[in-house]
Amino acid sequence: MQLPVTRLFPAPQRDFPLEGLYLDHDLYSKGRPGKPFVYSNFITSLDGRIAIASEASATHVVPAATANPRDWRLYQELAGQADLLVTSGRYFRQSLLGEAQDELPLGHQQAFDDIREWRSSRGLAPQPDIAIMSSSLNIPLATLEPYRARGIHVVTGENADPGRVAALQDSGIVVLRAGNGVKVNGRQMLHALARLGYRSIYAIAGPAVFHTLLESRIIDRLYLTITQQILGGDSYDTLSRGELLEPVQGMHLVGLCHDPHAPVHAGQLLCIFEPVTQTADSHPSPAHQDRP
Ligand SMILES: NC(=O)c1ccc[n+]([C@@H]2O[C@H](COP(=O)([O-])OP(=O)(O)OC[C@H]3O[C@@H](n4cnc5c(N)ncnc54)[C@H](OP(=O)(O)O)[C@@H]3O)[C@@H](O)[C@H]2O)c1
Repeated sequence: MQLPVTRLFPAPQRDFPLEGLYLDHDLYSKGRPGKPFVYSNFITSLDGRIAIASEASATHVVPAATANPRDWRLYQELAGQADLLVTSGRYFRQSLLGEAQDELPLGHQQAFDDIREWRSSRGLAPQPDIAIMSSSLNIPLATLEPYRARGIHVVTGENADPGRVAALQDSGIVVLRAGNGVKVNGRQMLHALARLGYRSIYAIAGPAVFHTLLESRIIDRLYLTITQQILGGDSYDTLSRGELLEPVQGMHLVGLCHDPHAPVHAGQLLCIFEPVTQTADSHPSPAHQDRP
């Protein structure tokens, strides 16, 4: 972790310590009451793999070749700034199989003590709350137990299975309705979460959840780690899955660092993108001029 990364954009090129690279973005303060700041993060190979099929697992998993502790540190820094994580029903089913990448952040390791201190110094709860997006409501209740100290919301559509809604509610889980059918509408979800007072929402689920957020145009920022590796394979997930976006979502590059130290024999690019909107200023905000 001691080895620095090199900022390539915005100029001038400059080295920065990896630790603190994203924590300094202070994403919690970017949200306002009624208008949470929504951000997401992926690690992908050069050929766009975020998860692959593997003989050892029933579900797609993050490739062992791309996952690395330096990216994981940044993932934890992003989680440290959230008051709410958005994950999916599938994460908890994967957990039951023992195939989820890890426990939901923040990790309890000593290496993340400084992130916990960062949270407490800003008056944030020790751990972010959790919103679980699900149509099926097939969420094994036992897998929620490790997270009972946090607020847990399940977000689903109006037509979700009433029996499963009741089972969740009976176990003390709040069920939010945000969509006309069984699918969640991203904008309705955001309004519901904003009414609950959340200010910084970190979407850590996969391609279907990210597509839902893109379709509703509610993503404010994407942190994308691109490992300089080509994996091949023919069964994989990429960033987004769903209908073609009309219009396509253009993204501004607002930050780019090079990390030559991981994965070994490759390196990675740490990219930050913000969506282009018809009304948005097309230039990076001043907050990004100083830090990557
Ligand atoms: N490399 C990376 O950075 C990265 C990041 C995240 C995930 N991943 C990997 O990607 C793979 C897929 O992850 P994932 O399963 O969390 O991804 P996902 O495709 O986003 O989640 C799928 C599930 O989310 C729920 N969902 C999505 N959109 C919804 C909507 N509009 N309304 C209601 N429910 C909705 C559904 O749950 P129900 O089936 O319960 O209805 C659906 O089955 C996993 O292997 C994961 O490890 C990789």
